[in-house]
Amino acid sequence: MYWTGFIVGALVSCICINALENGLARTPPMGWLAWERFRCNIDCDNDPYNCIKESLFMTMADLMVSEGYAAVGYNVVSLDDCWMASERDANGKLQPDPIRFPSGLKALSDYLHAKGLLFGMYEDYGTFTCAGYPGILGSLELDAQTFAEWGVDYVKLDGCNADPADMDQGYPEFGQYLNATGRPMIYSCSWPYYQIINGMTPDWASIASTCNLWRNYDDIQDSWASVASIIDYYGDNQDEIIPNAGPGHWNDPDMLIIGNFGLSYEQSKAQMAMWAILAAPLLMSNDLRNMDPQNKDILQNIDIIAVNQDTLGLQGRRLSKENGIEIWSRQINPTQGTDYSYSLAVLNRRTDGTPYDVSITLSTLGMTFAGGYSVTDLFTSVDLGDFAPDDTFEVRVNPTSVVMLRCNLITSTA
Ligand SMILES: *[C@@H]1O[C@H](CO)[C@@H](O)[C@H](O)[C@H]1NC(C)=O
Repeated sequence: MYWTGFIVGALVSCICINALENGLARTPPMGWLAWERFRCNIDCDNDPYNCIKESLFMTMADLMVSEGYAAVGYNVVSLDDCWMASERDANGKLQPDPIRFPSGLKALSDYLHAKGLLFGMYEDYGTFTCAGYPGILGSLELDAQTFAEWGVDYVKLDGCNADPADMDQGYPEFGQYLNATGRPMIYSCSWPYYQIINGMTPDWASIASTCNLWRNYDDIQDSWASVASIIDYYGDNQDEIIPNAGPGHWNDPDMLIIGNFGLSYEQSKAQMAMWAILAAPLLMSNDLRNMDPQNKDILQNIDIIAVNQDTLGLQGRRLSKENGIEIWSRQINPTQGTDYSYSLAVLNRRTDGTPYDVSITLSTLGMTFAGGYSVTDLFTSVDLGDFAPDDTFEVRVNPTSVVMLRCNLITSTA
Protein backbone atom coordinates (compact mmCIF):
# COMPACT_ATOMS: atom_id res chain seq x y z
CA MET A 1 0.00 0.00 0.00
CA TYR A 2 1.33 3.38 -0.88
CA TRP A 3 -1.02 5.80 0.75
CA THR A 4 0.32 9.22 0.07
CA GLY A 5 -1.79 11.91 1.61
CA PHE A 6 -2.23 13.02 -1.96
CA ILE A 7 -4.97 15.55 -2.56
CA VAL A 8 -6.58 15.43 -5.98
CA GLY A 9 -7.72 19.03 -5.71
CA ALA A 10 -4.14 20.27 -5.63
CA LEU A 11 -3.56 18.91 -9.11
CA VAL A 12 -6.58 20.38 -10.80
CA SER A 13 -6.29 23.88 -9.40
CA CYS A 14 -5.50 26.66 -11.86
CA ILE A 15 -2.03 27.64 -12.83
CA CYS A 16 -2.11 31.29 -11.97
CA ILE A 17 1.30 32.29 -13.28
CA ASN A 18 1.52 35.18 -15.71
CA ALA A 19 3.64 33.28 -18.20
CA LEU A 20 5.79 34.16 -21.17
CA GLU A 21 3.64 34.12 -24.29
CA ASN A 22 6.00 34.39 -27.24
CA GLY A 23 4.21 31.48 -28.88
CA LEU A 24 7.23 29.19 -28.47
CA ALA A 25 7.85 25.94 -26.58
CA ARG A 26 4.17 25.12 -26.18
CA THR A 27 5.48 21.65 -25.37
CA PRO A 28 8.92 21.04 -23.86
CA PRO A 29 11.76 21.71 -26.35
CA MET A 30 13.54 18.67 -27.76
CA GLY A 31 16.97 18.48 -29.33
CA TRP A 32 20.67 17.99 -28.83
CA LEU A 33 23.03 20.09 -26.71
CA ALA A 34 26.81 19.74 -26.71
CA TRP A 35 27.79 20.30 -23.09
CA GLU A 36 27.45 17.13 -21.03
CA ARG A 37 29.13 14.90 -23.61
CA PHE A 38 31.64 17.24 -25.26
CA ARG A 39 32.31 19.94 -22.62
CA CYS A 40 34.93 22.56 -23.42
CA ASN A 41 37.12 20.36 -25.56
CA ILE A 42 38.87 22.86 -27.83
CA ASP A 43 41.90 20.69 -28.55
CA CYS A 44 41.21 20.04 -32.20
CA ASP A 45 44.87 19.25 -32.90
CA ASN A 46 44.94 16.23 -30.63
CA ASP A 47 41.26 15.31 -30.51
CA PRO A 48 39.73 16.40 -33.82
CA TYR A 49 36.89 13.87 -33.56
CA ASN A 50 35.52 15.24 -30.28
CA CYS A 51 36.45 18.90 -30.13
CA ILE A 52 33.95 21.79 -30.30
CA LYS A 53 33.98 22.84 -33.95
CA GLU A 54 31.45 23.41 -36.70
CA SER A 55 31.74 19.95 -38.23
CA LEU A 56 30.77 18.35 -34.92
CA PHE A 57 27.45 20.20 -34.99
CA MET A 58 26.94 19.52 -38.69
CA THR A 59 27.53 15.82 -38.15
CA MET A 60 25.11 15.72 -35.22
CA ALA A 61 22.55 17.52 -37.38
CA ASP A 62 23.03 14.96 -40.17
CA LEU A 63 22.49 12.13 -37.68
CA MET A 64 19.49 13.78 -36.05
CA VAL A 65 17.80 13.44 -39.40
CA SER A 66 19.27 10.20 -40.82
CA GLU A 67 18.93 8.25 -37.56
CA GLY A 68 15.31 9.23 -37.00
CA TYR A 69 15.63 11.58 -34.03
CA ALA A 70 14.20 14.55 -35.92
CA ALA A 71 11.20 12.51 -37.05
CA VAL A 72 10.15 11.89 -33.43
CA GLY A 73 10.57 15.53 -32.41
CA TYR A 74 14.20 16.29 -31.56
CA ASN A 75 14.77 19.43 -33.59
CA VAL A 76 17.19 21.81 -31.81
CA VAL A 77 20.96 21.46 -32.32
CA SER A 78 22.66 23.67 -29.79
CA LEU A 79 26.07 25.03 -29.07
CA ASP A 80 27.18 25.29 -25.48
CA ASP A 81 30.20 27.08 -24.03
CA CYS A 82 33.53 27.41 -25.88
CA TRP A 83 32.32 28.20 -29.39
CA MET A 84 33.64 31.76 -29.21
CA ALA A 85 36.86 33.54 -29.95
CA SER A 86 38.40 34.85 -26.76
CA GLU A 87 37.72 38.47 -27.76
CA ARG A 88 34.88 40.38 -29.42
CA ASP A 89 35.65 41.81 -32.87
CA ALA A 90 36.71 45.42 -33.56
CA ASN A 91 33.05 46.52 -33.51
CA GLY A 92 32.35 44.80 -30.22
CA LYS A 93 30.45 41.95 -31.85
CA LEU A 94 30.68 38.38 -30.66
CA GLN A 95 32.59 36.12 -33.02
CA PRO A 96 33.16 32.39 -33.19
CA ASP A 97 36.63 30.91 -32.91
CA PRO A 98 37.97 31.41 -36.45
CA ILE A 99 39.83 28.11 -36.61
CA ARG A 100 37.10 25.89 -35.19
CA PHE A 101 34.17 27.67 -36.90
CA PRO A 102 35.79 28.87 -40.16
CA SER A 103 32.47 29.18 -42.03
CA GLY A 104 30.91 31.40 -39.36
CA LEU A 105 27.71 30.88 -37.44
CA LYS A 106 25.32 32.12 -40.12
CA ALA A 107 26.58 29.28 -42.32
CA LEU A 108 26.07 26.75 -39.53
CA SER A 109 22.61 28.15 -38.90
CA ASP A 110 21.75 27.86 -42.62
CA TYR A 111 23.01 24.29 -42.63
CA LEU A 112 20.73 23.36 -39.74
CA HIS A 113 17.74 25.20 -41.18
CA ALA A 114 18.15 23.43 -44.52
CA LYS A 115 17.69 20.18 -42.60
CA GLY A 116 14.57 21.46 -40.88
CA LEU A 117 16.39 21.88 -37.58
CA LEU A 118 16.66 24.81 -35.16
CA PHE A 119 19.90 26.55 -34.20
CA GLY A 120 20.66 26.79 -30.50
CA MET A 121 23.07 29.39 -29.12
CA TYR A 122 24.89 29.59 -25.78
CA GLU A 123 25.88 32.72 -23.91
CA ASP A 124 26.18 33.94 -20.34
CA TYR A 125 24.65 36.87 -18.51
CA GLY A 126 27.96 37.86 -16.94
CA THR A 127 31.28 39.41 -17.75
CA PHE A 128 32.50 36.01 -18.95
CA THR A 129 30.99 32.61 -19.69
CA CYS A 130 31.70 29.78 -17.27
CA ALA A 131 34.73 28.80 -19.39
CA GLY A 132 36.02 32.38 -19.61
CA TYR A 133 34.80 33.58 -23.02
CA PRO A 134 33.11 37.00 -23.41
CA GLY A 135 29.76 37.30 -21.64
CA ILE A 136 26.89 39.54 -22.72
CA LEU A 137 27.07 42.06 -19.86
CA GLY A 138 27.47 45.51 -21.37
CA SER A 139 26.41 44.33 -24.86
CA LEU A 140 22.91 42.96 -24.35
CA GLU A 141 21.21 44.74 -27.22
CA LEU A 142 24.01 44.15 -29.73
CA ASP A 143 24.24 40.46 -28.82
CA ALA A 144 20.49 39.92 -29.16
CA GLN A 145 20.67 41.55 -32.59
CA THR A 146 23.68 39.43 -33.53
CA PHE A 147 21.82 36.26 -32.60
CA ALA A 148 18.86 37.30 -34.72
CA GLU A 149 21.21 38.09 -37.62
CA TRP A 150 22.74 34.62 -37.34
CA GLY A 151 19.32 32.99 -37.45
CA VAL A 152 19.40 31.72 -33.87
CA ASP A 153 16.19 29.96 -32.74
CA TYR A 154 17.05 29.07 -29.15
CA VAL A 155 19.27 30.85 -26.61
CA LYS A 156 20.65 29.24 -23.47
CA LEU A 157 21.82 32.04 -21.17
CA ASP A 158 24.08 30.82 -18.38
CA GLY A 159 24.86 32.76 -15.21
CA CYS A 160 28.55 32.42 -14.35
CA ASN A 161 30.58 35.52 -13.49
CA ALA A 162 27.51 37.58 -12.64
CA ASP A 163 25.89 38.85 -9.46
CA PRO A 164 22.74 36.73 -8.96
CA ALA A 165 21.03 39.78 -7.43
CA ASP A 166 21.28 41.52 -10.83
CA MET A 167 19.52 38.68 -12.63
CA ASP A 168 15.97 39.75 -11.69
CA GLN A 169 16.57 42.78 -13.84
CA GLY A 170 19.12 41.41 -16.32
CA TYR A 171 17.40 38.28 -17.64
CA PRO A 172 14.14 40.16 -18.41
CA GLU A 173 16.13 42.97 -20.01
CA PHE A 174 17.88 40.56 -22.36
CA GLY A 175 14.52 38.88 -23.04
CA GLN A 176 13.15 42.24 -24.14
CA TYR A 177 16.08 42.71 -26.50
CA LEU A 178 15.51 39.24 -27.94
CA ASN A 179 11.83 40.09 -28.38
CA ALA A 180 12.66 43.44 -29.98
CA THR A 181 14.61 41.71 -32.76
CA GLY A 182 11.31 40.32 -34.01
CA ARG A 183 12.91 36.88 -34.43
CA PRO A 184 11.23 34.16 -32.35
CA MET A 185 13.89 32.67 -30.07
CA ILE A 186 13.24 30.15 -27.32
CA TYR A 187 14.81 31.60 -24.16
CA SER A 188 16.49 29.20 -21.72
CA CYS A 189 17.55 30.79 -18.44
CA SER A 190 19.93 29.66 -15.71
CA TRP A 191 18.68 32.53 -13.51
CA PRO A 192 16.91 30.59 -10.70
CA TYR A 193 19.75 28.08 -10.36
CA TYR A 194 22.37 30.73 -9.64
CA GLN A 195 20.05 32.44 -7.17
CA ILE A 196 19.19 29.20 -5.35
CA ILE A 197 22.84 28.22 -4.90
CA ASN A 198 23.47 31.71 -3.50
CA GLY A 199 20.69 31.37 -0.93
CA MET A 200 18.16 33.59 -2.70
CA THR A 201 14.50 32.78 -3.29
CA PRO A 202 13.74 33.05 -7.02
CA ASP A 203 10.91 35.25 -8.23
CA TRP A 204 9.15 32.41 -10.04
CA ALA A 205 6.40 34.60 -11.46
CA SER A 206 8.95 36.85 -13.13
CA ILE A 207 10.99 33.86 -14.35
CA ALA A 208 7.94 32.16 -15.90
CA SER A 209 6.93 35.39 -17.58
CA THR A 210 10.43 35.89 -19.02
CA CYS A 211 11.83 32.47 -19.94
CA ASN A 212 10.58 29.49 -21.93
CA LEU A 213 12.61 27.16 -19.73
CA TRP A 214 14.97 27.52 -16.80
CA ARG A 215 17.41 25.48 -14.76
CA ASN A 216 16.63 24.91 -11.09
CA TYR A 217 19.37 22.55 -10.04
CA ASP A 218 22.95 21.37 -10.60
CA ASP A 219 24.39 20.43 -13.99
CA ILE A 220 23.81 16.81 -14.84
CA GLN A 221 26.88 14.57 -14.86
CA ASP A 222 27.38 11.17 -16.46
CA SER A 223 26.20 9.01 -13.56
CA TRP A 224 23.12 7.46 -11.99
CA ALA A 225 23.97 9.33 -8.77
CA SER A 226 23.57 12.59 -10.66
CA VAL A 227 20.28 11.55 -12.29
CA ALA A 228 18.98 10.32 -8.93
CA SER A 229 19.93 13.58 -7.18
CA ILE A 230 18.02 15.57 -9.81
CA ILE A 231 14.97 13.33 -9.39
CA ASP A 232 15.17 13.90 -5.62
CA TYR A 233 15.37 17.67 -6.09
CA TYR A 234 12.28 17.62 -8.29
CA GLY A 235 10.38 15.50 -5.79
CA ASP A 236 11.50 17.36 -2.69
CA ASN A 237 10.70 20.78 -4.17
CA GLN A 238 7.65 19.87 -6.21
CA ASP A 239 5.13 22.04 -4.43
CA GLU A 240 7.26 25.11 -5.12
CA ILE A 241 8.20 24.39 -8.73
CA ILE A 242 5.33 22.48 -10.36
CA PRO A 243 2.95 25.49 -10.49
CA ASN A 244 5.53 27.44 -12.53
CA ALA A 245 5.50 24.98 -15.43
CA GLY A 246 3.08 24.89 -18.34
CA PRO A 247 2.88 25.48 -22.09
CA GLY A 248 5.57 28.01 -23.03
CA HIS A 249 7.43 27.84 -19.68
CA TRP A 250 9.17 24.76 -18.26
CA ASN A 251 11.40 23.61 -15.44
CA ASP A 252 14.58 22.17 -16.95
CA PRO A 253 16.25 19.29 -15.05
CA ASP A 254 19.09 19.38 -17.63
CA MET A 255 20.22 17.10 -20.43
CA LEU A 256 19.46 13.47 -21.25
CA ILE A 257 22.69 11.51 -20.87
CA ILE A 258 21.34 8.29 -22.40
CA GLY A 259 23.94 6.74 -24.73
CA ASN A 260 26.99 7.88 -22.75
CA PHE A 261 29.10 5.93 -20.25
CA GLY A 262 27.46 6.33 -16.86
CA LEU A 263 23.99 4.78 -17.09
CA SER A 264 23.02 1.15 -17.45
CA TYR A 265 20.19 0.18 -19.80
CA GLU A 266 17.75 0.10 -16.88
CA GLN A 267 18.93 3.48 -15.58
CA SER A 268 18.60 4.95 -19.06
CA LYS A 269 14.96 3.86 -19.17
CA ALA A 270 14.49 5.48 -15.78
CA GLN A 271 15.90 8.82 -16.94
CA MET A 272 13.70 8.85 -20.05
CA ALA A 273 10.56 7.96 -18.09
CA MET A 274 11.20 10.50 -15.36
CA TRP A 275 11.97 13.33 -17.78
CA ALA A 276 8.63 12.57 -19.47
CA ILE A 277 6.76 12.65 -16.16
CA LEU A 278 8.51 15.93 -15.28
CA ALA A 279 7.45 17.60 -18.57
CA ALA A 280 11.16 18.25 -19.01
CA PRO A 281 12.91 19.55 -22.10
CA LEU A 282 14.43 16.51 -23.86
CA LEU A 283 17.89 17.74 -24.80
CA MET A 284 20.18 14.83 -25.53
CA SER A 285 23.88 15.31 -24.88
CA ASN A 286 25.48 12.23 -26.33
CA ASP A 287 27.48 11.09 -29.33
CA LEU A 288 24.97 10.27 -32.04
CA ARG A 289 27.81 8.68 -34.06
CA ASN A 290 28.02 5.88 -31.51
CA MET A 291 24.59 4.95 -30.24
CA ASP A 292 23.71 1.49 -29.04
CA PRO A 293 20.40 0.40 -30.66
CA GLN A 294 18.85 -0.14 -27.21
CA ASN A 295 19.59 3.44 -26.18
CA LYS A 296 18.35 4.78 -29.47
CA ASP A 297 15.09 2.87 -28.91
CA ILE A 298 14.71 4.47 -25.49
CA LEU A 299 15.30 7.96 -26.87
CA GLN A 300 12.94 7.35 -29.78
CA ASN A 301 10.13 5.71 -27.78
CA ILE A 302 7.21 7.62 -29.27
CA ASP A 303 4.78 6.61 -26.53
CA ILE A 304 7.02 8.08 -23.86
CA ILE A 305 7.72 11.15 -25.97
CA ALA A 306 3.94 11.57 -26.29
CA VAL A 307 3.68 11.74 -22.50
CA ASN A 308 6.51 14.27 -22.38
CA GLN A 309 4.87 16.36 -25.10
CA ASP A 310 1.31 16.08 -23.77
CA THR A 311 -0.43 19.31 -24.68
CA LEU A 312 -1.92 19.91 -21.23
CA GLY A 313 1.65 20.66 -20.13
CA LEU A 314 1.08 19.58 -16.53
CA GLN A 315 4.30 18.61 -14.76
CA GLY A 316 4.04 15.36 -12.82
CA ARG A 317 4.68 14.78 -9.16
CA ARG A 318 6.00 12.23 -6.70
CA LEU A 319 3.09 10.64 -4.86
CA SER A 320 5.05 8.33 -2.60
CA LYS A 321 8.56 7.33 -1.63
CA GLU A 322 8.83 4.30 0.60
CA ASN A 323 11.38 1.49 0.94
CA GLY A 324 13.22 2.74 -2.14
CA ILE A 325 10.13 2.62 -4.33
CA GLU A 326 8.70 5.86 -5.69
CA ILE A 327 5.43 6.36 -7.51
CA TRP A 328 5.21 9.39 -9.77
CA SER A 329 2.19 10.50 -11.74
CA ARG A 330 1.38 13.02 -14.43
CA GLN A 331 -2.04 14.12 -15.67
CA ILE A 332 -2.37 13.83 -19.44
CA ASN A 333 -4.88 13.68 -22.26
CA PRO A 334 -7.48 12.42 -22.92
CA THR A 335 -9.65 14.10 -20.29
CA GLN A 336 -13.36 14.01 -19.60
CA GLY A 337 -14.86 16.80 -17.52
CA THR A 338 -12.55 17.16 -14.54
CA ASP A 339 -11.10 13.66 -14.94
CA TYR A 340 -7.68 13.10 -16.44
CA SER A 341 -5.80 10.23 -17.95
CA TYR A 342 -2.46 9.60 -16.26
CA SER A 343 1.02 8.42 -16.87
CA LEU A 344 2.59 6.62 -13.91
CA ALA A 345 6.27 5.93 -13.30
CA VAL A 346 7.07 3.31 -10.69
CA LEU A 347 10.71 4.00 -9.90
CA ASN A 348 12.83 1.44 -8.08
CA ARG A 349 15.79 3.06 -6.35
CA ARG A 350 16.69 -0.21 -4.62
CA THR A 351 19.95 -1.98 -5.40
CA ASP A 352 19.26 -5.32 -3.74
CA GLY A 353 19.52 -7.40 -6.87
CA THR A 354 16.15 -8.88 -7.54
CA PRO A 355 13.29 -7.12 -9.29
CA TYR A 356 10.68 -5.78 -6.90
CA ASP A 357 6.94 -6.35 -7.16
CA VAL A 358 4.84 -3.28 -6.53
CA SER A 359 1.13 -3.49 -6.03
CA ILE A 360 -0.96 -0.66 -7.49
CA THR A 361 -4.50 0.38 -6.61
CA LEU A 362 -5.35 3.37 -8.78
CA SER A 363 -7.78 4.97 -6.32
CA THR A 364 -4.95 5.33 -3.77
CA LEU A 365 -3.11 7.39 -6.40
CA GLY A 366 -6.01 9.81 -6.81
CA MET A 367 -7.37 8.01 -9.88
CA THR A 368 -11.05 7.58 -9.09
CA PHE A 369 -12.82 7.74 -12.46
CA ALA A 370 -15.72 5.29 -12.16
CA GLY A 371 -15.36 4.09 -15.75
CA GLY A 372 -11.83 2.93 -14.97
CA TYR A 373 -8.56 3.12 -16.86
CA SER A 374 -7.02 1.21 -19.71
CA VAL A 375 -3.37 0.55 -18.72
CA THR A 376 -0.41 0.04 -21.06
CA ASP A 377 3.28 -0.50 -20.27
CA LEU A 378 5.14 2.09 -22.37
CA PHE A 379 8.46 0.20 -22.60
CA THR A 380 7.06 -3.24 -23.47
CA SER A 381 3.88 -1.97 -25.22
CA VAL A 382 2.01 -4.67 -23.30
CA ASP A 383 -1.64 -3.90 -22.63
CA LEU A 384 -2.05 -4.70 -18.93
CA GLY A 385 -5.84 -4.50 -19.15
CA ASP A 386 -8.70 -2.35 -17.91
CA PHE A 387 -8.85 -1.50 -14.21
CA ALA A 388 -11.52 0.03 -12.01
CA PRO A 389 -10.23 2.49 -9.39
CA ASP A 390 -10.30 -0.12 -6.61
CA ASP A 391 -8.81 -3.00 -8.58
CA THR A 392 -5.27 -3.98 -7.69
CA PHE A 393 -2.54 -5.10 -10.06
CA GLU A 394 1.18 -5.66 -9.77
CA VAL A 395 4.17 -4.43 -11.70
CA ARG A 396 7.69 -5.84 -11.42
CA VAL A 397 10.43 -3.20 -11.42
CA ASN A 398 14.13 -3.96 -11.91
CA PRO A 399 16.73 -2.40 -9.60
CA THR A 400 17.54 1.25 -10.45
CA SER A 401 14.85 1.13 -13.10
CA VAL A 402 11.30 2.05 -13.82
CA VAL A 403 8.00 0.74 -15.08
CA MET A 404 6.17 3.40 -17.01
CA LEU A 405 2.45 3.15 -17.60
CA ARG A 406 -0.13 5.04 -19.55
CA CYS A 407 -3.58 4.90 -17.94
CA ASN A 408 -6.24 6.23 -20.30
CA LEU A 409 -9.73 7.04 -19.07
CA ILE A 410 -12.26 4.53 -20.32
CA THR A 411 -15.05 6.74 -21.59
CA SER A 412 -18.16 5.85 -23.55
CA THR A 413 -16.80 7.75 -26.54
CA ALA A 414 -13.34 6.13 -26.42
C1 LIG B 1 7.28 39.78 -28.23
O1 LIG B 1 6.41 39.90 -27.11
C2 LIG B 1 5.03 39.99 -27.47
C3 LIG B 1 4.26 40.28 -26.21
O2 LIG B 1 4.46 39.28 -25.26
C4 LIG B 1 4.60 38.72 -28.15
O3 LIG B 1 3.24 38.80 -28.53
C5 LIG B 1 5.47 38.48 -29.37
O4 LIG B 1 5.14 37.23 -29.93
C6 LIG B 1 6.94 38.50 -28.99
N1 LIG B 1 7.73 38.43 -30.20
C7 LIG B 1 8.83 37.70 -30.28
C8 LIG B 1 9.53 37.73 -31.60
O5 LIG B 1 9.27 37.03 -29.37
